[in-house]
Amino acid sequence: MGRVREIAQLGHPVLRKIAEPVEKIDDGVQQLIDDLFATSEAASGAGIAAPQVYVSSRVFILSIKPSVRYPDAPEVEPTAVINPEILWQSENLEKDWEGCLSVPGIRGRVPRPDAIGVRYQTRHGETVEREFSGFAARVFLHEHDHLEGMTWLDHVEDNREIVSEQEFMRALID
Ligand code: NI
Repeated sequence: MGRVREIAQLGHPVLRKIAEPVEKIDDGVQQLIDDLFATSEAASGAGIAAPQVYVSSRVFILSIKPSVRYPDAPEVEPTAVINPEILWQSENLEKDWEGCLSVPGIRGRVPRPDAIGVRYQTRHGETVEREFSGFAARVFLHEHDHLEGMTWLDHVEDNREIVSEQEFMRALID
């Protein structure tokens, strides 16, 4: 069972570090993955990366499904990602709204490739290659950024495309 961990907030140095590769998928990594799922679930996230819980390791999870914070999200099976590599990305970029549990209170429009090919290790140590598109590709790249010390704010092209969570939710309802 996972437990909810504290989430690092923008300004903490752990969010700006390049995360370390996982050498061995041991019990600590398994617990970290369970805790990431529990923490994302509790905060209605679409995913969360290890540096966001103060662990500078190349691990993140995807927990993509409709939620309070992402009502239009598709349903993707819960996925743990270890030591990911981006193999290719589409030239076509799509701009859409992102938020982040480490950047509370605001949302912004972020350009991202609309399809990607990736390689990573599963929590069982298998190496898999997969493709993601649309919102799932966006979340994968967002979480991958956290392993590189980046947040969505680093991709915003125009500050006028940053809005408060309150105005974002109001626009969703209208
Ligand atoms: Ni994030």
